[in-house]
Amino acid sequence: MTQAQLARRLILAFVAATLVATFAQCENDEDERANGQQDPKNSQENNAALTPPPDAIRILISGSMLGHLEPCGCASGQLGGLARRYQFIGEQRNYDLLLEGGDLVGGNTPLDKLKLFTTSQVLFMMERNYDAVGVGLRDLSLPLDDWSGFLLGGPAVATNLTSKQEAWPAMPFLDKAIRDYNVRIASLLLPELPKSMQGEGATVTRTDPAAAWAKVFEGQDAAMIRIAMVHGNDTQIRNIIPKLSPQPDLVIGVDTFYIEPDPAAKDIGGVPLVFAGIRGRVMLDARLWREGGKARVACETVPLTGSKTVPGGGGDPDVKSVVLMHRMNVAEENVLAQMAEQTPTPNGADYIGNTACGACHPTAMAAWKASKHAHAWDTLVKAEADPKRYGWPVTKYPDCVGCHTVGYGEKTGFKTIEATPDLADVGCERCHGPGSKHIVAPATNKLGIIGGVLKSEMCAQCHDFEQSPEFLYTERWQKITHGLEPK
Ligand code: HEC
Ligand code: HEC
Ligand code: HEC
Ligand code: HEC
Repeated sequence: MTQAQLARRLILAFVAATLVATFAQCENDEDERANGQQDPKNSQENNAALTPPPDAIRILISGSMLGHLEPCGCASGQLGGLARRYQFIGEQRNYDLLLEGGDLVGGNTPLDKLKLFTTSQVLFMMERNYDAVGVGLRDLSLPLDDWSGFLLGGPAVATNLTSKQEAWPAMPFLDKAIRDYNVRIASLLLPELPKSMQGEGATVTRTDPAAAWAKVFEGQDAAMIRIAMVHGNDTQIRNIIPKLSPQPDLVIGVDTFYIEPDPAAKDIGGVPLVFAGIRGRVMLDARLWREGGKARVACETVPLTGSKTVPGGGGDPDVKSVVLMHRMNVAEENVLAQMAEQTPTPNGADYIGNTACGACHPTAMAAWKASKHAHAWDTLVKAEADPKRYGWPVTKYPDCVGCHTVGYGEKTGFKTIEATPDLADVGCERCHGPGSKHIVAPATNKLGIIGGVLKSEMCAQCHDFEQSPEFLYTERWQKITHGLEPK
């Protein structure tokens, strides 16, 4: 056995041992409508075992990747990433459908464009191809030509979108024959298109979702299995389900509110509803069948964990090299420079750097210097040099740089370490806003918290549920506490 084969064996064993298997029954959850969140206690109590028949359709579901090709690695134990996802998929022998809800990227920057390119390479051109990919508003926010170009030839579905675009890649539905079943997959977009995409010259039109759904199943055999991927918020999704005729057998909600998929499907008037989760952290392994004419779904969540025994955390090696190529490409094309200084600053002043602040706030400066925020750039440099942890140009990757510097992406903000050394690290102005006006007349140009948000909200822009899962403002503030000079 070669080293690589051995490594792969180890990964398989590890993943098999760590996958959490929790089959759970569809539950009726009228009470949960109020807050849209699943009460785990409630679902536990309702979990009478639901055993799928051997010929149930097995569907692997992901959604709302939002450009998270890999976890950032800022904290240990982060979930997700395309490489781990493909390792898991590659180990499965008997799934029938591979579905991706859509919203592959989170925005329309040059980085998002390269991320979509890489993602489409992985989803449509590797050994295990996706059967269908829905289309979300975030996907459409990219320049349409780019989006279409990358998706062309891929299994994009958009049931209630039509387009005058010549190379429009999305089909109104996709069919797959699975044993004795004919399965038809549709994708519905519930919110309106943004204003910028409407009006004269619009290349994409959104039509009524219920009407588009009905049309897709017009004249079809009642035995056809009907799957809907539905983009919208919780309320929109629950409201549309009763209006879908014929009744879907499964609705996959693509809603960024659901950070993780629930292990149990919700029952909306007899229609099973599951959510795909976000950032590709947890896959949903669902089995679908009909019992007495009624659709039934049993689900299992698969958190995509890294291997603790394989150097680099494991993951599909081919996908890893595609992602690495993306990282290198981003550095070579200097996407960092392309995305610097794009938007105005939040308070209209200019960033001037930490040094200037220290002159009048020596105590705050001393506290800051003693904090980890003062080394955030250095951390990236070290990460870049450490092949065990990263070993790729993280200081040239906009996502990393954005959270480890001041004002990246804004006018006068961080550009490069050479051009703007005083804006590296999480400096004063990252939290208080640009200070050019304040230093001239401190009493009239007061600085508060950048953007006028709550302190804890500001911290959470970087310390989010993945970077700092246990972040508590009051506790962490104690570690970086500083304030006005004693009078
Ligand atoms: C621009 C992104 C950003 C913002 C905003 C931010 N932090 Fe941080 N924080 C970081 C980074 C990056 C590190 C890690 C630095 C390192 O280790 O090199 C960090 C580290 C820390 C640490 C040290 C690690 C630990 O938890 O013991 C504390 C404490 C902390 N931050 C508190 C806060 C608080 C409180 C706020 C809000 C008032 C805040 N941070 C806002 C990016 C940010
Ligand atoms: C959303 C903001 C955000 C992004 C994006 C981000 N970081 Fe971080 N990073 C943080 C925060 C916050 C911390 C501090 C976490 C803590 O200690 O609570 C941190 C800590 C770190 C650490 C120190 C933790 C350790 O275990 O040594 C490293 C290294 C790091 N980040 C590297 C990166 C790299 C590389 C990238 C890009 C792939 C990246 N970060 C992207 C916010 C971010
Ligand atoms: C990680 C975010 C963060 C960084 C970095 C940061 N601060 Fe603060 N700062 C805060 C928060 C949060 C408060 C608390 C505001 C409050 O409680 O009213 C604060 C309070 C202050 C206050 C007192 C404000 C008041 O009304 O009491 C001053 C002055 C100040 N910071 C200056 C600085 C200077 C100078 C630096 C850089 C050397 C700096 N801060 C770096 C987040 C930060
Ligand atoms: C020329 C001296 C001077 C410089 C330079 C200076 N400050 Fe201040 N700062 C003050 C004074 C004086 C106050 C108190 C203003 C008041 O309350 O009347 C203050 C107050 C603050 C406060 C509390 C909120 C407020 O505005 O009253 C923050 C936050 C702050 N400064 C941040 C900064 C940051 C960040 C920098 C660097 C960009 C900076 N300061 C540079 C003099 C200065």
